[in-house]
Amino acid sequence: MLQDRKIILAVSGSIAAYKAVYLLRGLKKAGATVRVVCTPDTARFVGPLTFSSLADGGVFDDLWGANWSEHVALGTWADLMLVAPATANTLAKMAHGQCDNALLAVFLAARCPVMIAPAMDADMYLHPRTQANLQALAADGHRVLPVSQGFLASGLEGPGRLLEPEVILAEVVAHFASPALAGKRVLITAGPTREAIDPVRYLSNHSTGKMGYALAAEAARRGAAVTLVSGPTSLPDPAGVETLRVQSTQDMYEAVMARAAGQDIVIMSAAVADYTPVTVAEQKLKKQGDNLTIVLRRTPDILHTLGQHKPPGQILVGFALETDQEEAHAREKLRKKNLDLIVLNSLRDPGAGFAHDTNKITLIDRTGDLQAFPLKSKKQVAGDILDRIVSLLNV
Ligand code: CTP
Repeated sequence: MLQDRKIILAVSGSIAAYKAVYLLRGLKKAGATVRVVCTPDTARFVGPLTFSSLADGGVFDDLWGANWSEHVALGTWADLMLVAPATANTLAKMAHGQCDNALLAVFLAARCPVMIAPAMDADMYLHPRTQANLQALAADGHRVLPVSQGFLASGLEGPGRLLEPEVILAEVVAHFASPALAGKRVLITAGPTREAIDPVRYLSNHSTGKMGYALAAEAARRGAAVTLVSGPTSLPDPAGVETLRVQSTQDMYEAVMARAAGQDIVIMSAAVADYTPVTVAEQKLKKQGDNLTIVLRRTPDILHTLGQHKPPGQILVGFALETDQEEAHAREKLRKKNLDLIVLNSLRDPGAGFAHDTNKITLIDRTGDLQAFPLKSKKQVAGDILDRIVSLLNV
């Protein structure tokens, strides 16, 4: 599965370093050529001899050894750099471009995609600094894997355990199995927007963001550098995805337009409000009379604006949630908004649309080609949409 793949396994100083030995064996068994780099503290947990007995070549753990330019040679040689386990200290140094050991020098010299598997104690993992460092690394396009939950070496219980070697191995195999999105920049919107009426009330819709979050997670799993612009949802930020939270259509418009030009793929899955109150009351509105009229004005159509300014080669994808004449409405939106692909949901299909864990979609591309899919989990639907996008990228 990993035949002819050249991988740098970068091991930093954590008790989880012993799992890197199993990971190394798994990578080798799958056919990869693996070079190991370590920080000076790794040897406190696992000796270099253990790694060099299993790896290809000796362990690179000393910037001041015989071959001073080894970090550059390794950085240009590899197809993938896998940092596992990545300690809080190594993550922090990577996020800030520090370079005081062999592992960090290889990281800065690496031209290949970098996958990072963190391991540390729960409080260290949850610390806002560590989370900010993980977000910064993800925003740079590196693939940050989640941690697992459970008993930690400290005796505490919580998030922070290194993923099991076979799970990391599966991620590496998946990375090479679907390289189509590796190095691609993908912008995805998700969830509803909220249009304020007064300080306590707003207009919104039933979107939960599940479809957009599933797309973001799946695109990241396939190697893309993903930015998610999300309206208010109760979902956690997907691992390895730069997530920006916004409220109104205007906020979403500004966040998307500021980032759209540099993207290879833009997917507007958010359920954006088409209208917003003309005025937002500064104080809570008091009830008066039997009727209340709120005057609304049109919001900017984000997708339409994106279609008008689409850079050459960018794939622009919209959603259409319809209740009648579904296909005709979807085709019209595809044309009017200058899209490459539209994802059609019908509210008439049971199990499709808002709040469900499943969805039933029809894809229509710019040539008019139509593909109808059965009811599937939103994760599988995300895979179907991304498969279609990849085929359009290659046209
Ligand atoms: N959309 C957008 N900005 C808006 C409204 C919608 O970017 N202000 C995007 C949605 O994210 C979706 C697509 O446009 O990808 C279709 O949205 P929809 O509201 O169904 O279509 P409209 O063109 O607004 O048509 P209508 O409301 O008449 O159905």
